[in-house]
Amino acid sequence: MPLLEVNDLQVEFRTHDATVRAVNGVNFSLEEGETLGIVGESGSGKSQSVLAMLGLIASNGRARGQAMYRGENLIGMSDRAMNRIRGNRLSMIFQDPMSSLNPYLTIERQMTEVLELRKNVTRREAKKRAIAMLEAVRIPEAAHRIGQYPHELSGGMRQRVMIAMALLCEPEVLFADEPTTALDVTVQAQILQLLRNLQHDFGTSIVLITHDLGVVAGLCEKVMVMYGGRVMEQCDAATLFAKPSHPYTIGLLRALPRLDHEGGELTGIPGNPPNMAHPPAGCPFHERCADAGDECAVDAPALKAVGPGWLRACHRPVHQVTKETSHV
Ligand SMILES: Nc1ncnc2c1ncn2[C@@H]1O[C@H](COP(=O)(O)OP(=O)(O)OP(=O)(O)O)[C@@H](O)[C@H]1O
Ligand SMILES: [Mg+2]
Repeated sequence: MPLLEVNDLQVEFRTHDATVRAVNGVNFSLEEGETLGIVGESGSGKSQSVLAMLGLIASNGRARGQAMYRGENLIGMSDRAMNRIRGNRLSMIFQDPMSSLNPYLTIERQMTEVLELRKNVTRREAKKRAIAMLEAVRIPEAAHRIGQYPHELSGGMRQRVMIAMALLCEPEVLFADEPTTALDVTVQAQILQLLRNLQHDFGTSIVLITHDLGVVAGLCEKVMVMYGGRVMEQCDAATLFAKPSHPYTIGLLRALPRLDHEGGELTGIPGNPPNMAHPPAGCPFHERCADAGDECAVDAPALKAVGPGWLRACHRPVHQVTKETSHV
């Protein structure tokens, strides 16, 4: 049985003038130790999919569907039951570490509090574990750093502290929402390597949100490409890079910088993602899709199996594999 199995997850928000269907039919399963990447441009529904599973969507929103974790549905779970699991068995790293670290408390207070509360250990034991975890995420002089406040650390260090905090209770699933976006490229690479090592050492399953397919290539076994609240294509990462077939996936791949192609042009997808309060009819991507036909403006294509573990929602998939689209 998978560790986490998501079926037809939906998230809707009510606003003064419209109902926003932010997530429309997400399905995936995650095995122990596996990493799933969720990719897509801004507004595609990546964060809300994950926040819904952790009972963290805004009060004007509502989630439906199933996210089965150890026989319990996380969607619609009582706050009490969710509080028992969240931050303990399921843990999240948010995009901006400053907004989720308390600026008035030392790193030690923030870390030991979690352990004392969740694991019922003494303060002394908690401090020992906190220092060990800071060392695991490669914070130099961890025993000294633990006494500092968040503002005394660099951005990369703060992100490491966030990761250390998220891993303190040894969660089974770590949800990481753009954990490296705010960091410069070198630090980004270090944090990704760190996640790889930690996964190897602790066997944690990871759901990683990113808008960068390059990050997926380095870390994920499975990938889900979202656009306009829907899943466009979903498969194992190797298949996605070898045989991308959804025009949106191919567009994202073309926007990746290529190491083998010096001076190569980065060709982003022309246009912008739709306004989710007033999405276009048909396939959400059709207005920006070079391969779109008449049917694409009318019917939203269903997400269908096209191979083992490979799902795609497209009326006009692109089948040829050219050098242009093969990146890895
Ligand atoms: N409280 C809310 N009320 C109304 N709409 C919302 C609310 N929260 C999120 N949305 C909308 O839900 C959609 C999906 O948002 P989400 O945050 O999941 O996008 P994302 O893929 O994570 O994008 P980004 O890469 O920018 O973080 C967006 O159109 C967003 O405007
Ligand atoms: Mg987001």
